[in-house]
Amino acid sequence: MRSSRIPGFYKKSVEERKALLSQTLDLSAEDIKALDSDGVLPVETADKMIENVVGTFQLPLGLGLNFLINGKEYIIPMAIEEPSVVASASHIAKIVRDAGGFTTEASERIMIGQIQVVGCADYAVAKQALLEAKQDLIDAANAAYPSIVARGGGSQDLDVRILNDSPNSDYGKMLVLHLYIDTCDAMGANIVNTMVESLAPTVEKLTSGKVYLRILSNLADRCVARAKCVIPPKLLVTGEYSGEEVRDGVVHAFEFADSDPYRAVTHNKGIMNGIDPVVIATGNDWRAVEAGAHAYAARYGSYRSMTKWYVDAEGNLVGELELPMSIGTVGGAIRVHPVSQLAHKILHVESASELAQVIVSVGLAQNLGALKALVTDGIQKGHMALHSRSVAIAAGATGEMIDIIAEQLVKEKEIRVGKAKELVEQYTK
Ligand code: MEV
Repeated sequence: MRSSRIPGFYKKSVEERKALLSQTLDLSAEDIKALDSDGVLPVETADKMIENVVGTFQLPLGLGLNFLINGKEYIIPMAIEEPSVVASASHIAKIVRDAGGFTTEASERIMIGQIQVVGCADYAVAKQALLEAKQDLIDAANAAYPSIVARGGGSQDLDVRILNDSPNSDYGKMLVLHLYIDTCDAMGANIVNTMVESLAPTVEKLTSGKVYLRILSNLADRCVARAKCVIPPKLLVTGEYSGEEVRDGVVHAFEFADSDPYRAVTHNKGIMNGIDPVVIATGNDWRAVEAGAHAYAARYGSYRSMTKWYVDAEGNLVGELELPMSIGTVGGAIRVHPVSQLAHKILHVESASELAQVIVSVGLAQNLGALKALVTDGIQKGHMALHSRSVAIAAGATGEMIDIIAEQLVKEKEIRVGKAKELVEQYTK
């Protein structure tokens, strides 16, 4: 049975973990090959992906464990350089799992294409002309990308706004057409951009204006995913802190972030610590997700917390996260990058909507991981424990020596490569 609970996974060697992974998920030797350090992304493939290629850049790929989302088990590939992130996500996922798991949902997957029109003699008349031609424009957009229509998606609707309409406006008037497109399981940048570019000449004719920009909007607010968790305080007990103390601390931390952009940006960065690694590992465009997420956090006029944390009538801690999630399970780098193909196999999601729901669950877990640490011992304790492992490795420790030396570094409160080298020398004498 597929399970995301693999106790003691972190204590195994990389080779043992790979063996366990392929056993748990029934992966072939060929599948797992993408994880070999010389098998990651062939430079010949990289050379076809971008320009001026001189090599490839690698990140550690870890597995977020213990995730139970809508009753389904997920092992979550995360590509990230920062220590503690994968451990913290897995730790919180275990707590949430013991509380019944995450529940999630997603909106329809509608992406927005924008067309900017300037120089209209009468903007109200131009707007009316576009609205009257709505169905023709939608049909023409679909004719420009028939394969998405064949897959059950395509352009569905449009609307038109006039910007800078007030006489006091700093900028010139312009008309902006939004084309709403169901991109199915694709992130959809190519689909959207092809469609809006194809409409430009018709839009110019209808408005007697000049079209400049024709491009997708990354504020994908019609393509959102939501995750929720409900945790009884007894599962939040941390060292000497009671569950109620931790719960109330998390709510205070949320209220701080939701009232102060200086805190919100760090709080939200912690959420993206969980989201980006999954977006990257699955071959998706993390800049698009980042841009959309931060803009969404400012949708009420000030920059606020992406998550909400509150206490319900039974005294449980409740967490919620809703974000635009312009990701896909087909297209883009997904089919060319061997590790992203493997990541999709590991994740076992059926659709982009399901992937989006997994990603917001990781973001919510990551936020709670950071807040739980911040309202108790602070983040440095756990962080230093993990950092000490990298320091031990940098000093030449191998195998079981790594943990022994790392623990000693933490005990002596001297997490330096120099100190670790001394300990390695003593150990190997
Ligand atoms: C560090 O990468 C992320 C945190 O700063 C997030 C937060 O402060 O909530 C710990």
